[in-house]
Amino acid sequence: MSEPVILAIANQKGGVGKTTTAVNLGAALARKGKKTLIIDSDPQGNASTGLGIAADEREANLYAVLAGTTEASAAIRPTSQADLYILPANQDLAAMEIELVDAEARQFSFRDRLKDAAQDFDVVLIDCPPALGLLTLNGLAWADRVLVPLQAEFFALEGLAFLLRTLDRVKRGSNASLQLLGVVLTMYDGRNRLAQQVESDVRTHLRGRVFKTKIPRNVRLSEAPSHAQPIFDYDERSSGALAYAALSDEIATSLGL
Ligand SMILES: Nc1ncnc2c1ncn2[C@@H]1O[C@H](COP(=O)(O)OP(=O)(O)OP(=O)(O)O)[C@@H](O)[C@H]1O
Ligand SMILES: [Mg+2]
Repeated sequence: MSEPVILAIANQKGGVGKTTTAVNLGAALARKGKKTLIIDSDPQGNASTGLGIAADEREANLYAVLAGTTEASAAIRPTSQADLYILPANQDLAAMEIELVDAEARQFSFRDRLKDAAQDFDVVLIDCPPALGLLTLNGLAWADRVLVPLQAEFFALEGLAFLLRTLDRVKRGSNASLQLLGVVLTMYDGRNRLAQQVESDVRTHLRGRVFKTKIPRNVRLSEAPSHAQPIFDYDERSSGALAYAALSDEIATSLGL
């Protein structure tokens, strides 16, 4: 088997669709037969919950793996979707932001603890927390590519510029091979003039690195996690499902999967 593609899904801004993208892009890639692992690297544990791993069923979690008390392979769980697996997180992980500070090679804990288990997969998606702290920096230090979900609203461009500067810093520091895979517009409402303006600015600014597919605002996408299902199981015909399927096509092509 060839090396897995490690894709970090990152944006320091909260609530822009990182987790929704990790879960549903992951499910879409799995439906194409790509063995996919989602690493929940957010102490909020939203991806774990959204994929049906209850909070009291996460003794084997990312914190325990990073702390060295659990093997990564023992913490990885199957989901209701064939070929889709998750390494869950819980609030314990919040401590890692602090503990990692003292650890040697503190940016490389993810890579060092997870790379062997990752070999079983075609794709690894890292659902990053809404901050540029050590958890996200660990994701970026290990990743080959970064996918940035962006909500087309007033402060989006400032936030994006800051994130791009951070990616440059990581490239010069811990991970020279890191590349921006692209930006995906999320919760997009085409009737909103500001959203159209932000879209046009982002496309001009990041020529060719904004996916054609936009994820529309779709209530079915926000309902699916409470049923512990990816959108394809919850409502395969919804605009959200169609959009994530189209995004997965673009991404699979761009990654050569
Ligand atoms: N396309 C969409 N249409 C409607 N609701 C959406 C869409 N994408 C995400 N949501 C909802 O918006 C909220 C934030 O989404 P999500 O949790 O994916 O963002 P996030 O960036 O992971 O947040 P955080 O920064 O807290 O981790 C959630 O309630 C989610 O269900
Ligand atoms: Mg999230």
